[in-house]
Amino acid sequence: MTTDTFQKHAYNKERFTAALADKATLTGRVLAELLEEQTEIPPRLREAMDYMLQSGGKRIRAALVMWACEIVSGLLNPDAQIAAAAVEMVHTYSLIHDDLPAMDDDDMRRGRPSCHKRFDEATAILAGDALLTLAFEVLASEIDNPAIAVRMIRTLSEAAGPSGMIAGQAADMEGPHVNGSLAKLEYIHLNKTAEMFAASAALGAIAGRANDGQMSALLEYGMKIGLGFQIADDLLDMTASSSQLGKTAGKDAAQGKLTYPALIGMEKSRAIFETFTCQAIAAIQDFGPEADLLRQMAMELYRRTQ
Ligand code: IPE
Ligand code: IPE
Ligand code: MG
Ligand code: MG
Ligand code: MG
Repeated sequence: MTTDTFQKHAYNKERFTAALADKATLTGRVLAELLEEQTEIPPRLREAMDYMLQSGGKRIRAALVMWACEIVSGLLNPDAQIAAAAVEMVHTYSLIHDDLPAMDDDDMRRGRPSCHKRFDEATAILAGDALLTLAFEVLASEIDNPAIAVRMIRTLSEAAGPSGMIAGQAADMEGPHVNGSLAKLEYIHLNKTAEMFAASAALGAIAGRANDGQMSALLEYGMKIGLGFQIADDLLDMTASSSQLGKTAGKDAAQGKLTYPALIGMEKSRAIFETFTCQAIAAIQDFGPEADLLRQMAMELYRRTQ
């Protein structure tokens, strides 16, 4: 099934890589500007926020926001750039807290010491708090149209909040999952990861003034690549090295995490991931060539585990 899908959408890795690099650069610039505008942040806290914001994340969620906007409106508008930056702030905060000793206890993130290792635990907790809060401040203050700002704030807060990412993280922390079920695992992936991808696609759609059909197609796409993305993360935790990942490999097994490969094995995990990839691509079939980067993103995320 994937082979057909891949052949139909002539995969061009170079084009995708260059387009993602463009969006990553732009996101880094917007984030730097937004941080600079905040003149009252204490120096050490600012240093920690900046250290994590500019640490070479893939910026996949930010690119998704911006591409979704481009697909529905034909251009990248300032609202989408702000929303992309806000998503990366929330995502970055989630990683800082995820790495803390009380959570996954990881000393390495994006190839460097994690925030609490480079600074200290209190600073890492506060940098996370600061990024989470600042994300909503920038949406409230930088988006001109109040109705658009409120829709964006609602979308991002629902995805990141206690019925979304935090619910997923809470369930993830309940381990060790010796008797985990597929239902529990699906719940964790949906909440801790997929909701943020769906929200990213939705934010771009809101910025681009999508109609209902476009919105639901992009939401479905985001949800499906998000579900696949966490399977990839779990597979790579088993198969890649710490230097390839930029974070400690093999941690999921060591910590008894409930993951697809742990529960159903690598082969079945890959098959489910493949299905999600095809479903993501199918969800955006009504869009024309302007959605090719999203198709390529789904394929690239899949290929990264092959
Ligand atoms: C890591 O996300 C956390 C997960 C949801 C698996 P990414 O792999 O997108 O992290 P960065 O931003 O590129 O470092
Ligand atoms: C984290 O999942 C998801 C978040 C919401 C931060 P993981 O714990 O698997 O992410 P990594 O592997 O540490 O990046
Ligand atoms: Mg975790
Ligand atoms: Mg982790
Ligand atoms: Mg992981």
